[in-house]
Amino acid sequence: MAKYVDKDDGVIVVKDLVKMFDRSIVLEGISLAFEKGKTTVVIGPSGCGKTVLMKHMIALERPTSGEVYFKGQRIDELNERRLAAIRTQYGFCFQKGALFDSLTVYENITFPIVQHRKISDWKAIDDLVKNKLAMVGMDGYQEHLPASLSGGQQKRVALARAIALNPEVILYDEPTTGLDPIRSDIINELILKLQRELQITSIVVTHDMKSAYKIGDRIIMLHDGRVIADGDADHIRNHPHSIVQQFVHGEVNEADLAALRLGGTKFETQYLPEDFK
Ligand SMILES: Nc1ncnc2c1ncn2[C@@H]1O[C@H](COP(=O)(O)OP(=O)(O)OP(=O)(O)O)[C@@H](O)[C@H]1O
Ligand SMILES: [Mg+2]
Repeated sequence: MAKYVDKDDGVIVVKDLVKMFDRSIVLEGISLAFEKGKTTVVIGPSGCGKTVLMKHMIALERPTSGEVYFKGQRIDELNERRLAAIRTQYGFCFQKGALFDSLTVYENITFPIVQHRKISDWKAIDDLVKNKLAMVGMDGYQEHLPASLSGGQQKRVALARAIALNPEVILYDEPTTGLDPIRSDIINELILKLQRELQITSIVVTHDMKSAYKIGDRIIMLHDGRVIADGDADHIRNHPHSIVQQFVHGEVNEADLAALRLGGTKFETQYLPEDFK
């Protein structure tokens, strides 16, 4: 499955990426090129390394071995100061700690703007915040603190912040988890809209297969530190591998069922409480 990739094959390229934490190996040699203007969805069981892979794409994690490129430039070896400049071209919306608790919605969204640009026209910034919040259905919440918002509302504000600087690439880690079906679909439509209108390259980690099929030009499944499936929605739907089929249909495998019947606790597939949020 491992394919040869060149640093110029995509906006983001990971090459022979291996990541170990202490002695446990999470990514066992991943090579992927993420094409400009496309939406790539990454799926896989909880704990398989999706978030770790995504963090490497913006150098929030450094590889044990292997390389990461952004627009042909190697980024995994850059220092934090040089990375700060690169990261302005990304929007990212991570699974945990998405918003600053002590800042209002307005301040959360303007944070990346104020950090990277000298502001002379605050009226334009107000309009920009209004516009981005309106895109996620949250205009009017500017003065709220994150604690006063529901989980789904916080997620939408985090998305508004991710798109604040009109980034070229957006990394979304589980953008629809915890949202009701209608809100999830609004996020899906937003990702599609950003792609269609601004040719944004999106990489989306999700457990939500409905969303994966809807937005993914390409779907990649990780399992045991490797890519076990890579293709469009039809390719994944019709994939012959039983692990892929079980995952996309949300089915427990036979070995897990047998363990359940025996009252055992050792499951092959590890589901964590947050998977059911
Ligand atoms: N900073 C870290 N130190 C040690 N181990 C880590 C660290 N970050 C992640 N891991 C481990 O790496 C593995 C992959 O974690 P990761 O967060 O990428 O999983 P995931 O596929 O995103 O799962 P989920 O679907 O539950 O979000 C897990 O076993 C996790 O415990
Ligand atoms: Mg994760």
